[in-house]
Amino acid sequence: MIKKGMIATLVFMLIFALFGCSSSTEQTATTEKKITVVTDAAFAPFEYMDKGEIVGFDVDLLKAVMKEAGLAYELKNIGWDPLFAAIQGKTADMAVSGITINDDRKQTYDFSIPYFESTHMILVKEGSSIKSAKDLQGKVVGVQNGTTGQEAVEKILGKENKNIKKFENTVVAIMDLLNGGVEAVVTDNAVANEYVKNNPDAKIVAFEDPEHFESEFYGFMFPKGSELKQKVDEALKKVIENGTYAEIYKKWFGTEPNIESLQQ
Ligand code: ARG
Repeated sequence: MIKKGMIATLVFMLIFALFGCSSSTEQTATTEKKITVVTDAAFAPFEYMDKGEIVGFDVDLLKAVMKEAGLAYELKNIGWDPLFAAIQGKTADMAVSGITINDDRKQTYDFSIPYFESTHMILVKEGSSIKSAKDLQGKVVGVQNGTTGQEAVEKILGKENKNIKKFENTVVAIMDLLNGGVEAVVTDNAVANEYVKNNPDAKIVAFEDPEHFESEFYGFMFPKGSELKQKVDEALKKVIENGTYAEIYKKWFGTEPNIESLQQ
């Protein structure tokens, strides 16, 4: 009797173990690891906070690309400098934040194919004597720390120039312009235009200077050697080819995108 009972218990345990095992593998298959995407949501119209939510062109593009790639993700607003640290330290898998692809960054990070063409613009108060990039000489100029806008200003004013005031984000740089702390802010053209459009009462104007500011391209950023890059590139290509990109572009910029400029 004892023997029979023991065999029955063993059989029961075996079935339980098999059953338990198979159901737990099923579980891990369905609850795949979410990809952590980081951003600095103070850069409208690319990424900004609206009623507690991160919204913008980048956010919509990311959503379309990840859907195309079949990848689950979570977008976190952690700020600009922390975003680079998170990708370098691999505590995040991917960053989207209007990030310019350049040789300097390519040494430390991987980038997707380009998804947006940008250049810099100068923001000043109406009636300012600053009319070109050259006029920035001798003036206090605000930039977001660690951006290509900072580099563009350093090229004109010199790297160690104390007149370059570096801010944690672009919103506070523009606020300082309003308060008279800086006489100009240099930032990405779409961001400058968006600010002027949304704040007609601020009496701020934005202008370009093609002689001094070159064109650059945004990409999604990954830790070096990330396997995600290829998947994201493929999905991004599809999203550009199937018209989804143009739809998102029109929603945020009101015009047709110049797809060819991205593909050269
Ligand atoms: N395109 C510029 C750069 O890569 C500025 C990007 C700033 N983006 C942001 N979300 N604050 O340096």
